[in-house]
Amino acid sequence: MTHIVVLGSTNMDLVTYVAQAPQRGETVTGREFRTIPGGKGANQAMAAARAGATVSLIGAVGNDAYGVRLRDNLEHSGVDTDFLRTVEGPSGTAHIVVDDQGNNAIVVVPGANGTVDHLSPGDEGLIASADALLLQLEVPLPAVIAGAEAARRHGVRTVLTPSPAQPLPEELLSVTDVLVPNEYEAVTLTGRTDPLDAAVGLLDLVPEVVLTLGEAGVLYVSRDTEPLAVPAHQVAAIDSTGAGDTFAGAYAVAVAEEKPLREALSWAAAAAALSVQREGASASMPYRPEIEAQYTS
Ligand code: RIB
Ligand code: NA
Repeated sequence: MTHIVVLGSTNMDLVTYVAQAPQRGETVTGREFRTIPGGKGANQAMAAARAGATVSLIGAVGNDAYGVRLRDNLEHSGVDTDFLRTVEGPSGTAHIVVDDQGNNAIVVVPGANGTVDHLSPGDEGLIASADALLLQLEVPLPAVIAGAEAARRHGVRTVLTPSPAQPLPEELLSVTDVLVPNEYEAVTLTGRTDPLDAAVGLLDLVPEVVLTLGEAGVLYVSRDTEPLAVPAHQVAAIDSTGAGDTFAGAYAVAVAEEKPLREALSWAAAAAALSVQREGASASMPYRPEIEAQYTS
């Protein structure tokens, strides 16, 4: 089995479903409120585990009730939480509004994730044993950089989702193998608005880029191959929260299994398509048999 290590955040998502998100100063009545485990790190870990890999998550939860539920939820999907520390104070939370079109707006309060600013004893050994290290930007940059550097020292491939969007230091880019931005993040990093243009621009920074374009599919570019566009599976989205994380987790598994590139992209796109048809981030992530069925249909 392939072994994926994820270094990143774990949040409790406080999700409100509403016909239309409120404008500034407006009050609207929502339809439903749910607490659903999320956080970009935990989401990618769940996605990879359900897609069929052995997965460990490096990160932190708080010593509150959310922390207990977040850890249980990961373990329930088979994610190893031995490197997920419990620290004093609240767990991370994400306040999410989802509208009837399946669009979302998110405010993240880091809580315990803010304490993940370095590698702890044992983390480097764990990373060294992995087929790939998945990273995002919801824990402090020093830990993301330290994780990527450790991976590089041991010849482990790093896959970075540059979210939340922010300028990336050369220190991090120089040890990133694959960047998986969405359109907004690609524009933020390059200042270029055309997707192909932006993706190609990112190749100045890293050797491989997988640009996720939602309903428009995925665009893959690398320094040594021709660009490859893979269409999205056409489905009706009800909640796209975590779709990018689902894609990244499933893609890492497919690549670690040495699936051919086009198949790996389409397989991960199938996982993302399944996730947007269900509510919540982690709760919506498909298990491998569902991905296989969607992929071949
Ligand atoms: O990428 C989706 C995630 O972003 C949500 O689960 C939420 O926790 C925010 O971190
Ligand atoms: Na979803």
